Amino acid sequence: MQAVILSGGFGTRMRPLTYTTPKPLLPIMNKPLIRHVLDSLPGEVDEVIIAANYKIDMLREYFQESDLDKKVMVVDEPEPLGTGGAVKNVEEYLKDTFFVINADIISSIDLGAFLEFYRTKDAVAAISAWEVKDPQEFGIFALDDHSRILKFQEKPEPWEAFSNTVNAGHYILEPQVLELIPQGKKVSLEREIFPELVPKGFYGFDFKGYWVDCGRPSSFLKANSILLDEYFKEHAVKYVLGQRSYVDGEPGEHVSVGMDCTIEESEITNSIIFDGVEINRGCVVKNSIIGYDVIMEENVSVVDTLIGDDLYLEKGKEYVQKVLGGEQ
Ligand code: GTP
Repeated sequence: MQAVILSGGFGTRMRPLTYTTPKPLLPIMNKPLIRHVLDSLPGEVDEVIIAANYKIDMLREYFQESDLDKKVMVVDEPEPLGTGGAVKNVEEYLKDTFFVINADIISSIDLGAFLEFYRTKDAVAAISAWEVKDPQEFGIFALDDHSRILKFQEKPEPWEAFSNTVNAGHYILEPQVLELIPQGKKVSLEREIFPELVPKGFYGFDFKGYWVDCGRPSSFLKANSILLDEYFKEHAVKYVLGQRSYVDGEPGEHVSVGMDCTIEESEITNSIIFDGVEINRGCVVKNSIIGYDVIMEENVSVVDTLIGDDLYLEKGKEYVQKVLGGEQ
């Protein structure tokens, strides 16, 4: 079976980090976001198509060097074609029923169970379903007692929201769905194609556990803390430390430290620290993401902040709710 991973977005909400690294390769618990998605694919999926565009060479390089037990093809889109156009662009490689998954979802979904569910239905498509309190930023749908989708609407206004069940970003599609997507045009699956699937046999698969759409820094930190809580169940610590990294003392809870970092005695909590970072004595890093190769001199305080790659933070500086760094 094949899976298409949508990986071509610009990741604007994660700038400046995405000026240098495409969002699917940004690390959570020292593993690229997209790798979390690939590791959740069921064994039945033996071929993965990465639908990419922005910083595609970095994605190619990552997959050339990684040790996946699946065939991976990175397919270029001449320009970003939206989620529907991206799937249409890889049509020539698709053979049968296939998965489509956003590259930026961290969740506990059992994709094997989703596939089993799908096979019990007379369906042309199915979508993963998650309950939220405020559905405004999402695609919403209503299900009947047999999990069939009765109505689908992308990003409703508050007065239009008829359900709290939202699109969780995993789809199973039949090749015939591709006939609805025009060639070479920018098309949104969610806005333009899903509403058309409702009368044709479109189903929703409910799951429990956790789900994070990693679009913005706060959701990266949330995904990091959820995964570290899971990690705690087996390893009894809530932090990870990359190879050749040294921390004087222990990091606090919900901290991922990449490779080749040096952290002198400091207070680090709920943060993601990329590779090659140097943090000197007396710093505070809280609810923050620190990009590659950042140097922090002594007594720097970084709270609720995003620090781009290669920055040098002078001794004693304080940053609260800041985004540092620009296009490089
Ligand atoms: P923002 O610019 O911050 O909104 O991020 P984004 O560009 O990643 O957009 P969004 O989070 O809405 O995208 C959801 C998923 O779809 C991500 O995995 C994107 O990589 C992917 N995606 C979005 N647009 C395209 C596109 O035009 N082509 C392809 N191939 N993938 C896309």
